[in-house]
Amino acid sequence: MKTMLNIALPKGRLGEKVYSIFEKAGFPCPSIKENNRKLIFENEELALRYFWVKPSDVAIYVERGAADIGVAGKDILLEYEPDIYELLDLNLGKCRMAVAAKADFRDNPQKTLRVATKFTNIAKNYYTSLGRDIDIIHLNGSIEIAPILGLSDVIVDIVETGTTLKENNLTVRETIVPISARLISNKASFKFKNEQIEQVMEKLISEVEND
Ligand code: PRP
Repeated sequence: MKTMLNIALPKGRLGEKVYSIFEKAGFPCPSIKENNRKLIFENEELALRYFWVKPSDVAIYVERGAADIGVAGKDILLEYEPDIYELLDLNLGKCRMAVAAKADFRDNPQKTLRVATKFTNIAKNYYTSLGRDIDIIHLNGSIEIAPILGLSDVIVDIVETGTTLKENNLTVRETIVPISARLISNKASFKFKNEQIEQVMEKLISEVEND
């Protein structure tokens, strides 16, 4: 009997798109569509086990080997720098990490820049590369409010359609990096379940190319 391949999928809208790529690629698990409270689903015949986890937790499951492979946003990989292999860009969940500010904000390079963000590490690395002193304000959500209330000068956040910024009278000032969903693998699993993982990867590559 083949050993199970454990696959962590990001719960939510992106996860559904990700699952349908896996399904089209020949790795279906029909029960996943029948139950929206259960978190673990198995296809014994194909020796696959899918589970839904919070998108920001996928890399933790994969890094620690609770999942052999998974799908995580590049934002999470850059922010937490998990010790995993990044196997494939799935070209899904495309957005960008950007700096935004109020339309009338004028930056004074002599002054420490106050940056509100959920992505502390990405923001620090970016401003270090520019040689700019910043004061990081770590927030957990609704980042767009920070410059409006004078808590920060700028924000570093994900921009997809730009609607959230627009609705809050903020504009993009700089793009830090483009973001998309990536197939990732646990390092030991990649060695010991190599055949299974390579097979998934190859099939997914042709699905991504066909899109
Ligand atoms: C992200 C981000 C913005 C929004 C941008 O939040 O923090 O608020 O999406 O999307 P837009 O450019 O299409 O308006 P998300 O919906 O992921 O929720 P979160 O802040 O709770 O993570």
